[in-house]
Amino acid sequence: MTETTPEPTSKKLFIKTYGCQMNVYDSDRMADALAPHGYEPVQAAEDADLVVLNTCHIREKASEKVFSEIGRLREMRDERRLTGGDLMIGVAGCVAQAEGDEIVRRAPAVNLVFGPQSYHRLPELLARAHNGARVVDTDFPEEDKFEHLPAAKKEVTLKRGLTAFLTVQEGCDKFCSFCVVPYTRGSETSRPLEQVLREAETLAEGGVRELTLLGQNVNAYHGLDSRGRTVGLGELCYRLSLIPGIARIRYTTSHPLDMTDELIEMHRDLDALMPYLHLPIQSGSDAILRSMNRRHTVAEYMAVIERIKTARPDMAMSGDFIVGFPGETDADFEATMQVVREVGYASAYTFKYSIRPGTPGATMENQVPEAKKAERLTRINEQINTQMHAFHRSVVGRTLPVLIEKPGRHPGQIGGRSPYLQAVHMDGPTRLIGQIIPVEIVEARNNSLIGKIVTVAEPNPASVIESQAIAAHI
Ligand code: SAH
Ligand code: SF4
Ligand code: F3S
Repeated sequence: MTETTPEPTSKKLFIKTYGCQMNVYDSDRMADALAPHGYEPVQAAEDADLVVLNTCHIREKASEKVFSEIGRLREMRDERRLTGGDLMIGVAGCVAQAEGDEIVRRAPAVNLVFGPQSYHRLPELLARAHNGARVVDTDFPEEDKFEHLPAAKKEVTLKRGLTAFLTVQEGCDKFCSFCVVPYTRGSETSRPLEQVLREAETLAEGGVRELTLLGQNVNAYHGLDSRGRTVGLGELCYRLSLIPGIARIRYTTSHPLDMTDELIEMHRDLDALMPYLHLPIQSGSDAILRSMNRRHTVAEYMAVIERIKTARPDMAMSGDFIVGFPGETDADFEATMQVVREVGYASAYTFKYSIRPGTPGATMENQVPEAKKAERLTRINEQINTQMHAFHRSVVGRTLPVLIEKPGRHPGQIGGRSPYLQAVHMDGPTRLIGQIIPVEIVEARNNSLIGKIVTVAEPNPASVIESQAIAAHI
């Protein structure tokens, strides 16, 4: 018999987010979808009536974590039941999409399982779960979920800070042979231009100054405008830059094959587009790239980088690397190290290849032994760390425009980011939060920079408008 969990009167929601930035964005949207139903976000599972695990399936470790977390929540729920309390447990995200029913079978404590395309249905799914049903929804519905997801209220956006993620594209049609994303997120879709602009305007009204556009292949964006014309990511960035308040635009993650001329030219022409680009290559060996089904060679990737650097010479590059893909020889790995050095990445994410059931890589012969993978990971990480520190040191002495985002760790300090996504700490008043000010970089630490404010802040836009209005009357 299924048990009924009456809707609690004080509804407190805790969402635990794993995986990529898209999940971070989705978690906020789930919270926004539940806000009109009386769910208030809290900071810990202990304080919540509903806990949603927003999961990631990309590597085995990420995926397995979910089940240990469910176990912990079940214990908490059982304890609460002794005193008449309860807890609802939901599993969302890419593990939910990939495993569906299997989650409820393996972990009966879970009340609802729902995939990334069902988030707009969350209130309804939750109501069914409260009526005692075990709910599993991993459909790819016809309707556009974004049309049905409410935008965050201005007060909520204000609380979330000055920088925001905004998903503009979802899913992937590329089917790299190691990757689960095409299965968990479905095929590539782009949100219509006006829908993205509307959401960005709302964010800007809530104080957001920097947008990071998200997509599994964000530069494959091809949204329709109101006249039915297809708009690429370059034009989207331009249109977003016209929104009052939006000063900086970033995007992630890009695929080398989708770096169009239009987008690259935008990096030359549009100041708001920040000079930091995440462009994964995964491996520096053509044989491995072929077997990964990446559909480009190392030379083609290098040619893309050259076009980018011609357009924007100071572009800081970032990337992703997988070591130990099946069949990767020492020579293949050395070729990867060569690419790391040649591109001179300012940062990069590195992973040991993880077998994902259902992907072509899982059944490939010549799987690389774990010890070999670990050894290669250590070496590539050492190289990338060295380059990252060198990059940090290279900006010492320069004056960079820093977006001040928050108070610092110590009183009298503030913190922000350089155009190259580096964290910068400095002495300064918190009234500068939200402004972009010139900061001289005086020191490079391991993961951040120390700066000194050079001039007092740019004039407040409101006072500029006011003084123009006054000038017009003189
Ligand atoms: N769409 C992006 C990547 C999204 S997944 C792209 O094409 O670049 C994020 C990163 O996780 C990938 O770039 C890859 O480096 C890593 N990754 C994906 N599947 C993996 C696997 N099976 N094992 C190890 N790392 C993996
Ligand atoms: Fe995965 Fe490849 Fe698609 Fe990136 S491009 S999401 S790595 S299948
Ligand atoms: Fe993970 Fe899904 Fe993102 S598998 S990396 S949460 S798209």
